[in-house]
Amino acid sequence: MPSTTPWWRSAVIYQVYVRSFADSNGDGVGDIAGIRSRLPYLESLGVDALWINPWYKSPMADGGYDVADFRAVDPLFGTLADAEQLIADAHEHGIRVIPDIVPNHTSDQHAWFQQALAAGPGSPERERYIFRPGRGPDGVDPPNNWVSCFGGPAWTRLPDGDWYLHLYAPEQPDLNWQHPEVHTEFESILRFWFSRGVDGFRIDVAHGLAKDPELPDLPLLPGPTDGQSRPFAQHPHWDRDEVHDIYRTWRKIADEFDGERAFVAEAWADTPERLAAYVRPGGLHTAFNFDFLMASWDAEDLRTVIDDSLAMLIGVGAPATWVLSNHDVMRHTSRYARKNVARWVPNQRYQPEGDIDLELGTRRARAAALLMLALPGGAYIYQGDELGLPEVEDLPEADLQDPIWERSGHTDRGRDGCRVPIPWSGQSAPFGFSPADASAEPWLPQPANWSERSVEAQTGDETSMLELYRTALQLRREHSALGDGTLAWVEAPAGVLTFRRDPGFLCVVNLSDEPYRLPEHTATLLASGPITDGLLDPDHAIWLQV
Ligand code: GLC
Repeated sequence: MPSTTPWWRSAVIYQVYVRSFADSNGDGVGDIAGIRSRLPYLESLGVDALWINPWYKSPMADGGYDVADFRAVDPLFGTLADAEQLIADAHEHGIRVIPDIVPNHTSDQHAWFQQALAAGPGSPERERYIFRPGRGPDGVDPPNNWVSCFGGPAWTRLPDGDWYLHLYAPEQPDLNWQHPEVHTEFESILRFWFSRGVDGFRIDVAHGLAKDPELPDLPLLPGPTDGQSRPFAQHPHWDRDEVHDIYRTWRKIADEFDGERAFVAEAWADTPERLAAYVRPGGLHTAFNFDFLMASWDAEDLRTVIDDSLAMLIGVGAPATWVLSNHDVMRHTSRYARKNVARWVPNQRYQPEGDIDLELGTRRARAAALLMLALPGGAYIYQGDELGLPEVEDLPEADLQDPIWERSGHTDRGRDGCRVPIPWSGQSAPFGFSPADASAEPWLPQPANWSERSVEAQTGDETSMLELYRTALQLRREHSALGDGTLAWVEAPAGVLTFRRDPGFLCVVNLSDEPYRLPEHTATLLASGPITDGLLDPDHAIWLQV
């Protein structure tokens, strides 16, 4: 039945981490032509849109999140013409395209920052960023005690004595969003890409743009004092109310263009209420529900997160946006592979503990996929989720590229383990990621046993993760109860989640240690594993017609 609901209220969006998706020219790094060549795959998987990690010109100090020119494509990934062709081709395949936009900072190689360096202390060129004199004798101490998300202080001193702020790597200076030119520049960048046909943007660090103009010290709190693990309320640089003014303007710009352009915010907020503020009427369209990704594998925890998120979002008329993995976090197959999945502490890097059981992780990942895809709203799939890829936890140290590895003084291996190039086919690396005659190896080494997890190996195998996703996405399109809407919980024993979506759909997830007898139903639509004697085993999920 054709729907009149905007597409973004129920879309399944596939996240493409460009450098690890498909390498067309054999240099060991994925590229835009590679994405184009895989559009038939993405169409047959059944996704509605692609979120593409930054493809802009960049020195790649942080995988492209250090942008030197927002109107150019990095030669590593292709050309502007390639990007335009991808947008056109994707549309032919019925797939929308949402690039990343990175408004919190630029690269230190961006023309603005280079001008600021050249112009010197006190110059108007420096006002587009956050430059300050230091404290202490001769200004040798940073202007305040803020810390970088990648470790170490958030300030770097220049030879001329000025310090500049970078909430991420030193190669990522923070922009000053109190400067009108910063606003007009980003408004122009949005229009540049909207007029090239993109269907929206994923907004990087959407909660970070506004800073307290006084730049006050972070209060020292008892407990872990890494500067991140404190509540955001009245935080000097996270989730401040002023950010919403920026997004109200951006919303108007999106609305100037035809075809329902939409934003998704990467906003880390303390509470569902604070998150909902981003998607109030006149604000952004959607925001990732990271609480779902941070939840433990526990029925009560998941139910609370789902209820709280839905209540707040429904209150402001926005859809939920569920996500299990992305390029910044441990892949959920591995997260769930620990018997007890710890609840993630917001704003801290997830460091799993305990023995790893990948069969368990895979069972739970299958159940989690059915849970997520049955929830009201939209959902994101990170490339490789549909192949059940685990985190590569044993990358050789010499291969690690994430700035977190260096900045943490080699205490945190960073995010490379979820960014390993994905296996398409064949028995040995590069598993079809690069052409057979490639001149270079994949930029991160792939585990030897990934032949079993390749697209080729899983296609047509009804027990595979890939076919589970494919069938789930197809059912999701066909079943009028799924996508946007609401849910109603159905009473079930502790450890079992059961909810109804109307008309006629029931999702049951068994997170307990006991098999669970299925409730009455007229048909099984899809199960995450075999059902015997009408019993749903632990760590399994099922979609029923009722
Ligand atoms: C976001 C991105 C992450 C990046 C950071 C700085 O959190 O998802 O990959 O390192 O912003 O841009």
